[in-house]
Formats: sequence, structure tokens, C-alpha cells
Amino acid sequence: MSSHPDLAGKVVIVTGAGKGIGQAIAERFGAAGSSVVVNDVDDSSARAVANGIVDTGGTAMAAPADVSDGEQVAAMFDTVMSTHGTVDVLVNNAGLVSPMLHFFDADEAWWRRIIDVNLTGHFLCCHRAARIMAKNGGGSIINMSSGGATRAHRSFTAYDASKGGIEALTRAMALDLGPYNIRVNALMPGSIDTAGLDADARAYRGVNIPAGRIGDPHDMTGPALFLASDDASYVTGDVIKVDGGMLAQQRSATVDIVHPDTFPSVDDL
Ligand SMILES: NC(=O)c1ccc[n+]([C@@H]2O[C@H](COP(=O)([O-])OP(=O)(O)OC[C@H]3O[C@@H](n4cnc5c(N)ncnc54)[C@H](O)[C@@H]3O)[C@@H](O)[C@H]2O)c1
Repeated sequence: MSSHPDLAGKVVIVTGAGKGIGQAIAERFGAAGSSVVVNDVDDSSARAVANGIVDTGGTAMAAPADVSDGEQVAAMFDTVMSTHGTVDVLVNNAGLVSPMLHFFDADEAWWRRIIDVNLTGHFLCCHRAARIMAKNGGGSIINMSSGGATRAHRSFTAYDASKGGIEALTRAMALDLGPYNIRVNALMPGSIDTAGLDADARAYRGVNIPAGRIGDPHDMTGPALFLASDDASYVTGDVIKVDGGMLAQQRSATVDIVHPDTFPSVDDL
């Protein structure tokens, strides 16, 4: 049985779910018995993920759309409403990282595209979903932040600004929507392997993460289902870090005075 039986039958939209973190979250909602709406700007990957959920006994539909385009978002919600009649959970996962540009190499088109997809995309999907949820007695919105909202990446100015905006949007929406029983939270992934790294690359990247390993897309799914579920009924306006302790550390392992390799062996305890 699913760890969250209340999610069975709930209509859940996951944006950018054609691969990576969004795919893992969509598939986990499918396994929990939710009716999953698999959005992606890439039509074929959205269909492949939706078909995969159906093939394993779940309920899913593909809903291709560019979340930065208001008309495409409206059409997607119209399709979901005519199919399911409601939306219970929205996971705003779609996001663009690249291209990475040094601030001096950045231009207005680059800035606008990343802000449009990452931040305006969240606004457009939330704006439509929240009205539906309010009329339906409530719902849960889960936004996708990044450690870049708190501690910056080099050559990620637009991305980090978009993620800071997403965390501020999350808090502000939680205040406006609380009286309508709509909870709004964010997840903050750390370093999650969505590129399919080989074992050496995974180990190399894991050294500087307190948990000792890079994250897997599936590490994001439990926190997503928790925030969507009744178990999180009094959680709103929050950002949950899912980062293996990355943001908690001051110095990375390789530059710290004490390297984890020097920690006491379990055999000596
Ligand atoms: N992977 C990480 O380490 C990490 C870390 C922090 C935050 N995040 C965030 O998590 C989310 C997912 O990251 P990921 O690594 O799985 O990314 P990914 O690139 O593997 O997948 C993103 C998906 O979003 C889709 N997409 C892109 N633009 C879209 C648009 N305009 N409309 C609809 N779909 C669109 C892509 O086609 C793709 O399928 C992003 O918001 C990202 O910023 C990821």
C-alpha cells in the first residue's frame, strides 16, 4: 500500500515531467494511485512517461505545453479540467539551467528566457491551479527551488535569481492562499544526478556532500508526496531542503580542516 493513501485518486499535475526529477515525482504519484498529468515542453517525453505510468497499472495523461506561454498553460488546464474536472496538486518542476553564462556574457534574451520559464512559468501554472483548488475546497502547490536561492552558483545569475524569486513567491502565495485551504511549499534539491553520471563521476561529486553521495531523482519523491499529502496539513510557506546536507556545511570536505576520511572508524567505536 502507498505510504500516502489519501493521494489515491487525486489529480496531480507535474510540470517538466518528461525526465529527471519531474519524471521520478510523476511516477511516484502514479504508484500512489493519483491521476497524473505529465507536462513537458517536449511532447514525446511527456507521452513516454505517461505511457510508462499507465503500463505499470497507474492513471496518467500527457499534457505537453511550454509553461512560460500563458496560452499554452491555459489550454493545458482546459484539457485537464475537461478530463478530470479538478486539480488537487500542482508540482511546478519545469526549469531551465542552461546556458550558463558569466555575467559579462549575459544578454537580455538569456535573462528573459530563464526568468520566463523558471519564475513566470511557476506564476502562470499557480495562477490557474489556485482558482480551481479554491473552488474545490483546497489543494497543495509544490514549487521547485534550488540551493542557488540561498548560496550562488558561478555563471548562474538568472537561474539563481529565478530560484530566489520562487522561494519568495512560495511564501507570498502561502499567505494569500492559506484562507482557501491551499498550501504552498517549495522543495530545494541539492545536487541531483539527472544526467545519468557514471559511477566514478557520481563518487567524485559525492565527496563534498555531507551525506557522502550525490542525490538521485528518487530522493526527491518522498518529500514531494509528503508535501502533497494530508500528513503536511499544517505545513505551508516552507522550503524543504533535500540536499544531503549541502547547504548546512560551511566548508566542502576537500577544503575543510578535518576531512571525513579522518573520522573514527565504526570498528573502533
Ligand atoms: N538536478 C539538480 O541537481 C537540481 C538542483 C536544484 C534544482 N533543480 C531543479 O529541479 C527541476 C528539475 O530539474 P532536473 O535536473 O530534473 O531537470 P531536467 O533538465 O533533467 O528536466 C527538466 C524538464 O523540464 C522540461 N522543460 C524545460 N522547459 C520547459 C518549459 N518551458 N515547459 C515545460 N517543460 C519544460 C524539460 O523538457 C525537461 O524534461 C528544475 O526546476 C531545476 O531547476 C535541479
